[in-house]
Amino acid sequence: MKSIENNVFWITGASSGIGRSMAELVIEHGAKVIVSGRNLAALENFLSKFPNHQNNILPMAFDLGADFDAEDLAKQAVNRFGRIDFLINNGGISQRSQTAETPIEVDRKIMETNFFGNIKLTKAVLPIMIQQGGGHIAVTSSVVGKFGFPLRSAYAASKHALHGFYESLRAENYEQNIRVTMIIPGRINTDISVNAMTAEGKKHGVLDPGQATGMTSEKAAQLILKGILNQRKEIIVGKFDTIMVHIRRFFPRLFYYMARKIDPK
Ligand SMILES: NC(=O)c1ccc[n+]([C@@H]2O[C@H](COP(=O)([O-])OP(=O)(O)OC[C@H]3O[C@@H](n4cnc5c(N)ncnc54)[C@H](OP(=O)(O)O)[C@@H]3O)[C@@H](O)[C@H]2O)c1
Repeated sequence: MKSIENNVFWITGASSGIGRSMAELVIEHGAKVIVSGRNLAALENFLSKFPNHQNNILPMAFDLGADFDAEDLAKQAVNRFGRIDFLINNGGISQRSQTAETPIEVDRKIMETNFFGNIKLTKAVLPIMIQQGGGHIAVTSSVVGKFGFPLRSAYAASKHALHGFYESLRAENYEQNIRVTMIIPGRINTDISVNAMTAEGKKHGVLDPGQATGMTSEKAAQLILKGILNQRKEIIVGKFDTIMVHIRRFFPRLFYYMARKIDPK
């Protein structure tokens, strides 16, 4: 693997799951990392877990779905580490609710967190990357950023929106050495379904069977980091379930049938 020692990563959604595994991996490889999420205790846990790397870790808690000051956070990050080489926009929340039963407030909350919070941070970091001569933005979408799926209408919409936004950004900023990678996980064994929003705006609270049998977050993190360092535009990561992306593309009628029949949990 290409050396990432002393490169500066900013990873959102680092308090658990895929983001946590990615943060651990880059810390182990000697990178400097800003770890973000809402759960400050979970972020500060990196400091005790990696006592020899404490100077390389900056926990920075904020809520992607709230009115956070992205410019100020970016300024703090640069004050600490001097630059930002990789922004891994990974934080997000899923959904487990039927469209017909979901109030618009829940749809908005998912869009605020997964889309607006995500792009707000990018808009604060992008000028810094341009000024320093380049940088790499990776964004965790989902296979449902490629197609719609039951119980995930707002979630799928938020992930589709990310593709439109970041494909535009990629084309606009190529000459300034900005590279963009879309990460497209299938089912990864994390708490994503436990934390997913229900129609009542509460946590689903259940580790769905699809999640429990998914790829480990450690394995996913390794494949994702390798793909980012190889400057891949898209990284599809997961087990056999990711075949749905290709079925949707090449056999759409079969896909529409399967989407109706497959257990969405
Ligand atoms: N696991 C899968 O099967 C799967 C599949 C496709 C895509 N994904 C995507 O992968 C990404 C990571 O999810 P995961 O699977 O690792 O699930 P996870 O364990 O639930 O992690 C989600 C992360 O996002 C953060 N987050 C959620 N809401 C936030 C908010 N309002 N403000 C700031 N941070 C917030 C959480 O931190 P706090 O709770 O500390 O805020 C947590 O660190 C998500 O974007 C998800 O959509 C996952």
